[in-house]
Parts: sequence; structure tokens; C-alpha cells
Amino acid sequence: MKKTEKNRAERNRTLTVSKEEIPTLETRITDVLELKNGFRDNCIVNGDIYESLDYIPNGYFDLIIIDPPYNLDKDFNGNKFSSMKSEAYEDYLRSWFHKVCDKLKENGSLYMCGDWKCSSSMQHVIEERLTVINRISWQREKGRGAKSNWKNGMEDIWFAVKNPKDYYFDVESVKMKRRVIAPYKVDGQPKDWEETENGNFRITYPSNFWDDISIPFWSMPENTDHPTQKPEKLYAKLILASSKPGDKVFDPFLGSGTTAVVANKLGRNYCGIEINRDYCLWAAKRVIISEQDKSIQGYSNGVFWERNSLNEQRKRE
Ligand SMILES: C[S@@+](CC[C@H](N)C(=O)[O-])C[C@H]1O[C@@H](n2cnc3c(N)ncnc32)[C@H](O)[C@@H]1O
Repeated sequence: MKKTEKNRAERNRTLTVSKEEIPTLETRITDVLELKNGFRDNCIVNGDIYESLDYIPNGYFDLIIIDPPYNLDKDFNGNKFSSMKSEAYEDYLRSWFHKVCDKLKENGSLYMCGDWKCSSSMQHVIEERLTVINRISWQREKGRGAKSNWKNGMEDIWFAVKNPKDYYFDVESVKMKRRVIAPYKVDGQPKDWEETENGNFRITYPSNFWDDISIPFWSMPENTDHPTQKPEKLYAKLILASSKPGDKVFDPFLGSGTTAVVANKLGRNYCGIEINRDYCLWAAKRVIISEQDKSIQGYSNGVFWERNSLNEQRKRE
């Protein structure tokens, strides 16, 4: 039985696509033939990167976000990826990475997501073309327990640029609102924090350790049945920090459409490639919803809130 036909619990908000919706959603999807006839902004390309990349302009994007298949056995809706030796995985990355890099502007930025197993291969390959300027560690909380190993609860996000002397980074747009554990006062006044009836909070600059983002789960409206969907909150940080409104964002492995959705919500242009038709339909539906609903769970009033702080955010609003 296909996942979209599953019986769901009442509070389950996982996005699905009905047969009736497909014709409308298809108007939002570009196939490789159409792409060959001319590239346009804000497109979800249903195709293989190996066939599509040649028809996407070089030196065009301000920001590229890459979340490729990790070096694991994974079934992407029938399209299976198999784990391999690290050298072979590096060759796999090389088979598309250099072409993807050509799409980046001279002052552009690139992020690549990975786990502990594929992360060092990613660093090697990224450094063949770009300068790595940071590695973000995302504590993703959920992960399968293992009897003979440590449970995997982390992911890496490599941050790299073409020119370390000329790239855009807006740290002010990605500040965090954190509960103050030890409120410190000077002359009876809060030092760098705010006293509210809902608690004491401090606005802080973000580090490269992110522990405020959970993976999408079934009660969240952004959730789909994609097996490795990234949270909107995570991509909102990348897009806000490393692009301006109106800039162009590219994702060669679009999956359920997170990059397109967040770029659209934040007023950036997007282009994404995804080989799987169902995933493209989910992405198209999410993009249509994002035209009306610009909210990003965990980001409100221009700041990122801690996990499980929805009540405080609502009181604030
Ligand atoms: C890790 S997932 C990306 C998930 C995405 N970040 C999201 O939030 O949903 C990788 C995606 O790459 C797609 N993919 C794998 N090989 C591809 C190829 N050669 N061309 C285009 N897409 C491909 C898979 O179908 C899968 O959806």
C-alpha cells in the first residue's frame, strides 16, 4: 500500500495529494523537455540531475542548498540508493558536484547536509572547488536507537563559499530567542535580557551548534511522507543568513520541496530538481500553500525560538 493511502490518526497533519489535485499541481512542475526550451525562475524540475543540470544557467544562483542521498541504504519511493565504500561515495559526489558548483555566482554560498558517515567525503569533495568556512552541527534529536553503537542524533551542514573575501552573511536575521536560566541584573536592571510575564528571554547570536530544531513529525503541517525531509526552520536559517530578498536559491535534490517552500515564504526565487514524481507533487502542493501561509514553525517576530516554545510565541503574538 502506498503511504499516501495510509489510514491516519485524526491529529495527523501529514500532507497528501489526492487524484483530483494532480492536474493542477502538474502545472507547477517542469519536465526536462520544457527546461530544454528555456529556464525560468521558481521552477520544480521533475528530472534526473544528470539530464537537467546542463539546462540550468551557470553563475546564476546566490545560494545553493544540497541535501543529497547520504551514504546509506535508502529507498526514495522505489528509487533505491545503496551504501558504498567512502571512495566510491566521493566519486558519486564528484559526478554531479562540479556541475552544481558552476551554477553558483562568484560571491555565492553553498550548504551541504550530511551525517557522520558521509560528512568527511563531502568535505573532501567540496574543498576541490570551494572554501569551507564552517560546519554546523545540528542535533536532530530523533534517530533510531542502536544496540551495539551510539544512537545517531546529529547531522553536519557544511558551509562553503567561492570567495571567502566576498560573500553575503546577515547574522542579524538569524538571532535566537532563548530562555534565560540565570538572570543577571546590574543596578536592579536585567543585563542583556528581557523580563516578560511569560518568562525571561535573551536575544542571542547563533553559533554553529543548533539544538533548537526538531525533524518534521506527523502533527506538523509541513510534514510529508518523504523519508528524509528537512525542517523548514533549518532551511529558513540558511536562506535568511545567506541570501537577500529577491535572490536566487537552487536545490539539486529537492525532495519534498523544503528549499522551494522556504525560499518562497521568505521572498526568494527558487529552482529545484527532483527525480521522483510524487515528491514533486508534494513540493508543488507545499509551494501553493506557501503562497497564502508564510509562517515557519519556530520563527516568528523576526527571531528563532527554542524547541517546544509555541505557547510563549503565541502569547507574544
Ligand atoms: C535527502 S533527499 C532530499 C530531501 C529534501 N531536502 C527535503 O527536505 O525533502 C534526496 C532527494 O534526492 C532525490 N534524488 C536522488 N537522486 C537524484 C537524481 N539523480 N536526480 C534528481 N533527484 C535525485 C531523491 O529522490 C530524494 O528525494
